[in-house]
Parts: sequence; structure tokens; C-alpha cells
Amino acid sequence: MEQDAAAAGHATDLRVRLGPLTLANPVMVASGTFGYGEEYADFVDLTRLGAVVVKGISLEPRAGNPPPRIVETPSGMINAIGLENVGIDKFLEEKLPALQSRRVPVIVNILGNTADQYVELASRLDGIAGIAALELNISCPNVKEGGMAFGADPAMAGHLVEKVRRATRLPLITKLTPNVTSIAAVAKAVEAAGTDIVSCINTVSALAVDAFSRRPKLANLVGGLSGPAIKPIALRCVYETVQSVRCPVIGIGGIASAVDAMEFLLVGARAIQVGTANFVRPTATMEILEGIERVLRFLGLSRIEDYIGTLDAECRFPFAEEACRF
Ligand SMILES: Cc1cc2nc3c(=O)[nH]c(=O)nc-3n(C[C@H](O)[C@H](O)[C@H](O)COP(=O)(O)O)c2cc1C
Repeated sequence: MEQDAAAAGHATDLRVRLGPLTLANPVMVASGTFGYGEEYADFVDLTRLGAVVVKGISLEPRAGNPPPRIVETPSGMINAIGLENVGIDKFLEEKLPALQSRRVPVIVNILGNTADQYVELASRLDGIAGIAALELNISCPNVKEGGMAFGADPAMAGHLVEKVRRATRLPLITKLTPNVTSIAAVAKAVEAAGTDIVSCINTVSALAVDAFSRRPKLANLVGGLSGPAIKPIALRCVYETVQSVRCPVIGIGGIASAVDAMEFLLVGARAIQVGTANFVRPTATMEILEGIERVLRFLGLSRIEDYIGTLDAECRFPFAEEACRF
């Protein structure tokens, strides 16, 4: 029946359920790569996105790290922005209203130096119209305090999530770092502590140096690698996470095309976030959204839910060559 509907050209059902959160489609933008949304409104019909994840917000405004804080590599970029942001007051007064008026679900990425700061942010954001969920950034590799310190240790991550869980009724997404020995161990800890959803991955800790000046290319020395270079790492992390928890997983890392997005959905991610690709092609999310629909039609599926997590673990050669068509 469903295959007939797809063949007859009926609309594809792209709705995805992520525990308490239902999205019209699985395509979101990744925190820090899409500002507060409005910056992209000339290129992207924001209302068509599954959700907008805004730049990470802290209690106080942050200036971030000194420049240079972005460097390009052959297949991605390394950033050490250091979580520059306008702070929660300005976010609520000046940034959120524009997104509220566009009626796109807003996911607020939050960060703090201490567990109490995360708790305060969560309670201040609770119950505000238009905010669909919170995403806890416990995975930033570019700041000295907080950030990855929480995400690299299962016990600390669990403790933090437990505290934040008590402070909000909003769906809670915990964003994990790949810079650990076992991402599954951290995922299990945050699930046990009450996170509704896990998202992965944040950037991969990286270094770029200049052979001639003999200096680092980033003032912060190290930064976070993102973009195509990290896609296989992200895919492995998502796969391991999906295998180890029951809660829904959001895939992030190097997604630049519809086929990239489908690969994450195939291994079990129930939604995806597009990051660095927004800098390369500001319309990337719209192309990915339309491409997902075309791939599903090609496969004869009318519901995206029928595709998610359907990886056949047995490897068979030759591989399909359809990818180049999309
Ligand atoms: C310039 C830049 C700023 C970022 N800022 C944040 C942030 O504030 N909070 C966060 O959780 N992740 C942040 N990230 C990580 C992205 O959301 C995403 O997890 C990562 O870039 C991997 O996805 P990609 O390969 O599609 O870019 C940032 C990434 C970049 C490149």
C-alpha cells in the first residue's frame, strides 16, 4: 500500500518522532553554524526546517576566544570560536522573537561552566512559547572550563543531566563528544539520568600548524574539526550510540547531501543536523530536505519511519551506484 502511494506521487510522510518531540521532518541545523536563524532567512525558508538549533547560549554574554579562530583544512574546518554568544537575556529579548514569529520549532543549545549554570538556564527557558527542546552542550572542545569536561566522563555527564532534568519539563537532548574512548558509555549514563534524546557528534579535537612560520594556525592552538572529514567518525559514533541506548538519537557530523543524511538515518538516527555545510552552501538544508524525499520515492517508501534503522549488517559487493543520482 505504502509503496503504491509513493509510486502514485502522493506526498511523502517525513514526520519523525523523537520521544516527546515530533518534528515535521528530520532536517535541523546544527548549533553554532546557523546563528540565531534570521541570518539565513534570505537563503532558507526557515518554516520548512524540522527545527532550528540556535548558537549555544550561556547565562552571561561571552566574547569567545581571540582570533584567528577558524582555519580551513582539505576536507573540513577547525574552529575555536570558544562559545561566543549574546547571553540568555539578549537571546530572549532580541533573537527568539523573530524565530517565534516564523513558527519554526526552536531548540536552544545551552552551556555553562558549572552544573548550576546549566540548571539556571534550563529553568529560565522552561515554558517559553516556541521553544521545542533544550540541547545540552557538554561536548565543546574549545573552552577551558565546563563543556567537554562534563561530556568526557560518564559519571559527571549523568550527574549534570539528572540536575537539569529536574529543572525543566522541556524535552532534553544531550549532545555528546566523539573525543572519548567509549561514546556508548556516556550515552548510557545520560540516558539513565533522564535525557530524552541524545545527539552526536560535536567536533573532533584537532590541530593545524604552519610549517613556515612555525606557529599554530589558531590562537587557541587546538580546535574542533567539522565537515566531510568527520562523517565516518560521526557515523560510527551514531551507530554505537543507537546500539547502546533505547532513547532516540540525532546524527550530526559532515552531513552535506541527502545521501549523507540517509546514511545516518539508515544506521538508526531519527533526525539529523547540518552544520559546516551551511557555510559552504547556505541552501544546503533545503537541498537535503528535497533530496531525502526523492531518495525515499526512488526506494518506493512513502514514510521516512520505514527507512530509519533498516541497515542490513551483512556487507555485500558490489555497492549500489544510485548515490550519484541524488
Ligand atoms: C563555527 C562552529 C561553531 C559551533 N558552535 C557550537 C555551539 O555553540 N554549540 C554546540 O553544541 N556545537 C557547536 N558546534 C558544533 C556543531 O553544532 C556540530 O556538532 C559540528 O560542527 C559537526 O557537524 P558538521 O560536521 O555538520 O559541522 C559548532 C561548530 C562550528 C563549525
